[in-house]
Amino acid sequence: VPDSAYPRLLLAWYDRHRRALPWRALPGQAADPYRVWLSEIMLQQTTVKAVGPYFEKFLARWPSVAALGRASQDDVLRMWAGLGYYSRARNLFACAVAVSRDHGGAFPDTEVGLRALPGIGPYTAAAIAAIAFGRHCMPVDGNIERVVSRLFATEDALPQAKPKISQLALTLAGEARAGDSAQALMDLGATICTPKKPACALCPLNEDCAARARGDQETFPRKAPK
Ligand code: ADE
Repeated sequence: VPDSAYPRLLLAWYDRHRRALPWRALPGQAADPYRVWLSEIMLQQTTVKAVGPYFEKFLARWPSVAALGRASQDDVLRMWAGLGYYSRARNLFACAVAVSRDHGGAFPDTEVGLRALPGIGPYTAAAIAAIAFGRHCMPVDGNIERVVSRLFATEDALPQAKPKISQLALTLAGEARAGDSAQALMDLGATICTPKKPACALCPLNEDCAARARGDQETFPRKAPK
């Protein structure tokens, strides 16, 4: 399969199997940057399942970034209680204040602009730029590293392999629908290309997967010995 076929295969699979998650826009509808940002901060160290109710609670109380920026930090911390990693909550509030005060209430629409905000690192900047603004970026977390390293059977060990894996990951993103491409890889890593016993029969990329062809999927990504 030529490289250019990956984005289409992935998006066709996503259109059939996408998980309906509270922060995702309906198919074909524009994503709300505030919802995308809020969910990506919550998802940094917390599972999809645990985030759901918190995301809904925050959105009901503070329906916009401007509203969140007018809250008190103590109220934000109280609402965050139970999610853990409380520096995320302090940064969340600081970011809402910065977006309101310095950006007129509109999130920057580039990876570089997003990176300058409190609590937004490389992964989160790429995720928001792709999902909220359609930028051709690919956020690479452990799930996506696993999918990509298996597909291409990349032999270099983590963490040295990260730049190469990021570059390969971007080839899986369509020029159009970059956000859906990213979320397709997230869903694939979470539900099919799992660390143990991946469900390769259900994978839209199975015929192209170098690790599957060799039968050693579980040995990827390679890791440097501790
Ligand atoms: N993990 C981090 N961001 C995510 C998203 N947008 N969808 C599903 N899982 C995620």
